[in-house]
Amino acid sequence: MTQTAALPAEIARRRTFAIISHPDAGKTTLTEKFLLFGGAIQMAGQVRAKGEARRTRSDFMKLEQDRGISVSASAMSFEYKGFRYNLVDTPGHSDFSEDTYRTLTAVDAAIMVIDGAKGVESQTRKLFEVCRLRDLPILTFCNKMDRESRDTFEIIDEIQENLAIDVAPVSWPIGMGRDFVGAYDLLHDRLEIMDRADRNKVAESIKITGLDDPKLADHVPAAQLAQLREELEMARELLPTFDRQAFLEGHMTPIWFGSAINSFGVKELMDGIGEFGPEPQVQKAAERAVAPGEKKVTGFVFKVQANMDPKHRDRVAFVRMVSGHFTRGMKLMHVRTKKPMAVSNPVLFLAADRELADEAWGGDIIGIPNHGQLRIGDALTEGETLRFTGIPSFAPELLQAVRATDPMKGKHLEKALMQFAEEGAAKVFKPSIGSGFIVGVVGALQFDVLASRIEIEYGIPVRFEPTQFTSARWVQGPKDLVEKLVNANKQHISTDHDGDIVFLTRLQWDIDRVVRDYEGVTLSATKEMM
Ligand code: G4P
Repeated sequence: MTQTAALPAEIARRRTFAIISHPDAGKTTLTEKFLLFGGAIQMAGQVRAKGEARRTRSDFMKLEQDRGISVSASAMSFEYKGFRYNLVDTPGHSDFSEDTYRTLTAVDAAIMVIDGAKGVESQTRKLFEVCRLRDLPILTFCNKMDRESRDTFEIIDEIQENLAIDVAPVSWPIGMGRDFVGAYDLLHDRLEIMDRADRNKVAESIKITGLDDPKLADHVPAAQLAQLREELEMARELLPTFDRQAFLEGHMTPIWFGSAINSFGVKELMDGIGEFGPEPQVQKAAERAVAPGEKKVTGFVFKVQANMDPKHRDRVAFVRMVSGHFTRGMKLMHVRTKKPMAVSNPVLFLAADRELADEAWGGDIIGIPNHGQLRIGDALTEGETLRFTGIPSFAPELLQAVRATDPMKGKHLEKALMQFAEEGAAKVFKPSIGSGFIVGVVGALQFDVLASRIEIEYGIPVRFEPTQFTSARWVQGPKDLVEKLVNANKQHISTDHDGDIVFLTRLQWDIDRVVRDYEGVTLSATKEMM
């Protein structure tokens, strides 16, 4: 990633990141501790409590609870030691990877949480690969050190081997499981001692002069101290030392060892993001690269969330501010439609509540409530035509027909489906023959989630059924040729929520035939989001 020179101080102090992990590694707990230390919540347990409250409002969340997955993503901001942190939440389950991938286009760094006993798990690996595609700097937090964990060298080796990234220990655990005492802070020559009595209490920090400091013996039992000395000596010989540049370029990850539930290692991790960065980064657009320090405001929508408040049927578009200093009420241009848009009630998401955002800087994430104008990939600028690139669109791999069990509700079903299509939760196709709809998703679980949401949010019970189609291709080409193709292949033709023409089939042979017979027409498996 390119480092940006001399940013305005307000932008330079922003840190926008996501947490990636395999379910159960401790992402929620770590998030909660961040918010606690960032003053966004008063008491640990509120994030979960808020989850429970939400669940009573919507059974969609019940699905989340039943399956032990998290599907509702949001962004939260908090301040800590002079830095403004914007934490973008990523849904954890692999079937929601579309959403997760898009979320990762809105951040500048990621924290990878791994369970000290389990090491690198499947979902961690997948998410890591996405981060790598974007060269995102990654900070690693090895969690649950208060439990029996793997040997420290083994964990580091596994990350290095599995993910092909250099791992530099910036802290070193002392003991583990029941004998876990704390960690040695290699960056500051400090001893951090975990308080087992109070889970929300931050570790006591003891400055020492190095491994020979006699003070060490006052805090660490002799056996563990001997082991620590031995291990650190080996680590210094065998493992790389932290190199900020390599980290910023995505080649090296610093690793902290801690216990999120015991608030141990969390502040050091926060300090690490603050100190090492990165700052808000340059974002690429088709026309040019946009630097965060530019005066004019620009941003792009990376997520649309509908029905956050079921009473109001509002949609919130989450916007990553790319550059400039935005103030509430500002008129921005909605690039796709070329229409001006007065942004009068942007929201910032703090853990307990949303609140009006009076201002935002490059790097921030704001939510803009709207009635459907803002879509994933849309750019907002002060007049310049920009198309930010890199927001992935996925080819739907599974297609099913959807029907309202009550035929009288067909019209409402259309509305619900269009809404989910705009949210990016699924692809929706209306075949030119017949009255039903075909829904395309990337993971099978998405059908369950959609059925559940359609019933809860719109009161329409639905059934998903197999269809004869297995592939969807967006049709592009000269108008007359496309028209000819459409007229001759009516049984294959459908339109998506934007009215764009989509060719549905079960046979690769059909696709090859069309490409051959209609030279100049392209059939593509994905549709550009922007
Ligand atoms: P996730 O969001 O990544 O899925 O994980 P989450 O934070 O929900 O944590 C998963 C489980 O691991 C939780 O236990 C949580 O309390 C526990 N946990 C998190 N950090 C630590 C840690 O540092 N040490 C230990 N020993 N456990 C930790 P649970 O029983 O599933 O939930 P709960 O009943 O405790 O809420």
